Amino acid sequence: MMGVLLTALLLYILPQFPRLYADEGSFSLVYNGGKIMTQPVTVSLLWLGTEWQESGQQAIRNAIFSLTPSRYHVKDSEVPTLGNWWETIRQYRDGSNVSVTDRVDVGAECFYKGPQLNMTLDLVTGIGRSVFSKTSIDGFGGNLTCTQLFEVNDSTIYHVVFSPMVTFLSGKEQMELMFLCSGNFPVEVSAGKNVKMAWARPQQTPGDQCLTFFQGDYYRGPPNDDEKIDSLVGFMLAKIAEEVTNPDGRGWISNDGSDRTVSSSCVSIFMGDEAGPPLFNDMERNVSFNAVGLNGYRYMVQYIWDQKIRNCALQPSETCGTNVLTFKQPKGYLKIGTTVNQTNGLQPYSPNQKCRWKIQYPTAKFISFTINYLSVAENTGDQVMICQSDSGSAQCSTIQSNAGNFDKNFNVIGSKAYVEFTSGDHVSFESRGWELSYSAGFCNGKEDVYDQEGVIGYKSAVGYSYVEGLSCQWVLHGKPGTLVTLSFTHINISKDFDFLAIYNGTMLQMANFSGIYWRSDLPLMNLTGEVMIAFATQTDKGEGWSANFYISSPVDRSKKTLLIVAIVILAVVGISLSIALITLAFVRRRSKHTTRMDLNENSLLIRAEVNGEENKIGEGPSSIVYRAESTDGISMAIKSPKDSTSQTKLEEEILIKTSSHPNIISLVGYAEDGIRGRYLVFEFMGRGSLSWNLNETGGKLDWEKRLEIAIQISSAIQMLHMYLKPPISHGNITSENILLDECYNAKLGGFGAANYCTSDGTNPEMPSEMAEDIWSFGLLLVELLRGEPLVNRNASEFFESLEKMNKLLGGQECLDLRLGIPEEECKIRALAKLGEIAKWCIGSSQGVGGGVNSPKIGDVVSGLNQVKQLFFSVSG
Ligand SMILES: *[C@@H]1O[C@H](CO)[C@@H](O)[C@H](O)[C@H]1NC(C)=O
Ligand SMILES: *[C@@H]1O[C@H](CO)[C@@H](O)[C@H](O)[C@H]1NC(C)=O
Ligand SMILES: *[C@@H]1O[C@H](CO)[C@@H](O)[C@H](O)[C@H]1NC(C)=O
Ligand SMILES: *[C@@H]1O[C@H](CO)[C@@H](O)[C@H](O)[C@H]1NC(C)=O
Ligand SMILES: *[C@@H]1O[C@H](CO)[C@@H](O)[C@H](O)[C@H]1NC(C)=O
Ligand SMILES: *[C@@H]1O[C@H](CO)[C@@H](O)[C@H](O)[C@H]1NC(C)=O
Ligand SMILES: *[C@@H]1O[C@H](CO)[C@@H](O)[C@H](O)[C@H]1NC(C)=O
Ligand SMILES: *[C@@H]1O[C@H](CO)[C@@H](O)[C@H](O)[C@H]1NC(C)=O
Ligand SMILES: *[C@@H]1O[C@H](CO)[C@@H](O)[C@H](O)[C@H]1NC(C)=O
Ligand SMILES: *[C@@H]1O[C@H](CO)[C@@H](O)[C@H](O)[C@H]1NC(C)=O
Repeated sequence: MMGVLLTALLLYILPQFPRLYADEGSFSLVYNGGKIMTQPVTVSLLWLGTEWQESGQQAIRNAIFSLTPSRYHVKDSEVPTLGNWWETIRQYRDGSNVSVTDRVDVGAECFYKGPQLNMTLDLVTGIGRSVFSKTSIDGFGGNLTCTQLFEVNDSTIYHVVFSPMVTFLSGKEQMELMFLCSGNFPVEVSAGKNVKMAWARPQQTPGDQCLTFFQGDYYRGPPNDDEKIDSLVGFMLAKIAEEVTNPDGRGWISNDGSDRTVSSSCVSIFMGDEAGPPLFNDMERNVSFNAVGLNGYRYMVQYIWDQKIRNCALQPSETCGTNVLTFKQPKGYLKIGTTVNQTNGLQPYSPNQKCRWKIQYPTAKFISFTINYLSVAENTGDQVMICQSDSGSAQCSTIQSNAGNFDKNFNVIGSKAYVEFTSGDHVSFESRGWELSYSAGFCNGKEDVYDQEGVIGYKSAVGYSYVEGLSCQWVLHGKPGTLVTLSFTHINISKDFDFLAIYNGTMLQMANFSGIYWRSDLPLMNLTGEVMIAFATQTDKGEGWSANFYISSPVDRSKKTLLIVAIVILAVVGISLSIALITLAFVRRRSKHTTRMDLNENSLLIRAEVNGEENKIGEGPSSIVYRAESTDGISMAIKSPKDSTSQTKLEEEILIKTSSHPNIISLVGYAEDGIRGRYLVFEFMGRGSLSWNLNETGGKLDWEKRLEIAIQISSAIQMLHMYLKPPISHGNITSENILLDECYNAKLGGFGAANYCTSDGTNPEMPSEMAEDIWSFGLLLVELLRGEPLVNRNASEFFESLEKMNKLLGGQECLDLRLGIPEEECKIRALAKLGEIAKWCIGSSQGVGGGVNSPKIGDVVSGLNQVKQLFFSVSG
């Protein structure tokens, strides 16, 4: 009796338990060395009281029968089954590592007949004792008939089930029967031999606590249309769970001295929580439930303490392995935890998880994600991440919040995406998990079509619909005036919500389709020139569309992958160095509508077409130079930085200072796009680089022209080294950076590496930057003589010895063979002297490093002028 009261008191004063927070994370159940029920269990039932309905009794018997996991044939029920629930109990094992039984049956049953019962505990105990010796009992005001004798054995649970009609007579010793909804008491079946009887009761007086778990906003109605019976089942099953794991008081109980069991540890989740437990709702029948049994029954059961997740659970929690799961369907969903109708989860997910999924669909252009449900506590570091790649968190969106204030939609560009979920060491009960759905999209933005014929469309996998929120265009590039035929083979798009529009050019709408089109209704269109097909969706209620196209005369692809550079010259300001500094604005064309710009009176629009390959005229380590054409036919060169860190500002400054020199490339202006920075616009040099000319058309560059080029470039270097304060070093004098105009005038360009010299040149120790320019110029002279560059500019071993250098530059056999060796003695001597100057430039400084012996540019210029005189003098 004492034990009963103690249990009664304990349960009664445990108010809201357990609401586990981080500091309670150490709570767990421990095994105390006693017995647990590992053999198949029978539950013998003593139905006490009047007005039992057969349907209610059947629901209870079915619940017991449904506890055996192996009786279920359908796996993966969306709703936890009572079998799943029992699996949570089966994680408890005895000292020999044998787990709780996996089989539960209904055993003997006794039925009461008679008037309404007024019970005392003594009366119940007396009746309980009698069923072990008789199958037919009377004498307590009514009759009891049993199907068989209650047998005393270790694998039976004896259970008294009270009907709602039983009243408990008040009295001190009746407290537990009145205040509790379930409990147990000992019964002496023979001298000195006690067995334990469990009991459970439904609500008996309006408002008593045995109905309390049916509440909350989501609750619709009792699963079996009888609130009293449906709550009784929950209490009975919880008692059974307790009996199998702790039959003798020394099984699995809490480690905190309160002797809570697998089910009493979770009692408040069953009955105390304001909002009630999360529920599944059947809106049609207007019932709520949280577990299903066999034969179509639904139940509301209490949570069980799950040691693995250290929290209360309805079924074993999913844990994820270390493997990345790969999904290869175009649509699907991922989830962690159990979610109920995407509004409310059932139980917390497992702690210390790191789960990863990869979603991959080869032809996808992007993958879109929608968060259907999210209950992920952030204070413990739990989070869901959607990533572009699986390396690090660089390209990830992190989703983490219980507040409901998070982005629900994410797009990942490309054919694959990664999802990662992590949970911390402790998971609060509110952290019930998440669910997201993904779907692959098969078009993204604009697609240009240059082929003559083929198939276009939005083609998902068979049986899958498209994605909402699409806005895609296909442009068939036919030449102006030529026939473009579009013959649709399939159109299934959501009528009046999603549209497929056909345009002549990009502005004039010719047709607009929506809905499902059948064979003969499928449109066949004859159009001309450029045709655009736009597909926009607000729903995902359709499969997409496809069409065969034929372009009688398609535009050449290379001409059309154009980057349109629109340059606005806003102001023309003369500066001291007599060059116009022009401010240009740069706009990259995205669509027809974004090119509109404000033009005012004194601005001039230059629209230059720049093409990726065809118009590329040069490329350096940090920039690409394109040829561009203004609307009035003037060619220009646009130097486009490869990244925003290139040195354009300094380059610009230097070029403005040097712009008066006829042999230095002229800066026309600059453009800015705010992304990569400044684009420098130069005069266009019709014959391209010296390097290209020497290589391709060497024969056209005769000795006279080459000598002139050498002199012109030396003069440009002279301007940099001598006439500017502080002096400037070019840093990259090569034949690639020397450009020729139509008249073979040479101009020095490629100022990307140019910089102010650290000394003004008065220092006897010549600044090495200048020496390097001289050295490079020497190599350039060699190239002019030989017609080809030295194999390796940086290999100073070429010039280690005078013999080696003489070998390279010495005799006539080293001259460009494509040109005739001059016959006149003076010309030969002039070329030899040019070789000497080259040697002087290269040799005396032993490569880079700048010795005092290195000639200054002034010396070089005067030396070259002597060469010129000699070359053009008339010898006798
Ligand atoms: C108990 O048995 C289970 C499964 O049979 C096994 O995974 C586990 O390691 C065992 N535990 C011990 C302590 O032997
Ligand atoms: C039980 O008590 C009620 C009144 O509380 C009474 O009407 C009824 O007759 C009693 N039944 C028995 C079997 O004593
Ligand atoms: C109990 O059963 C006996 C016979 O088994 C019968 O005589 C008696 O009337 C029954 N009592 C009630 C209250 O039904
Ligand atoms: C235990 O007793 C019940 C009846 O109370 C019976 O159905 C069951 O078969 C018995 N089990 C064992 C193992 O004897
Ligand atoms: C379903 O049950 C709820 C609560 O019990 C009630 O408010 C609602 O009106 C019922 N709906 C229907 C369609 O019966
Ligand atoms: C889930 O919720 C939606 C709307 O809240 C409802 O239309 C649907 O019937 C529900 N489904 C189930 C299985 O309860
Ligand atoms: C097609 O027409 C509908 C109105 O009938 C319009 O709402 C929709 O924007 C049009 N679609 C396109 C792509 O122009
Ligand atoms: C389509 O546009 C072109 C000019 O861009 C025009 O010549 C042609 O007539 C247009 N076709 C139709 C059917 O309007
Ligand atoms: C489209 O052009 C083809 C070939 O020129 C022709 O056979 C067909 O009849 C035309 N269809 C329509 C709808 O104009
Ligand atoms: C149109 O697409 C939907 C899928 O979004 C599909 O259910 C439906 O059967 C399709 N209709 C036809 C006629 O193919």
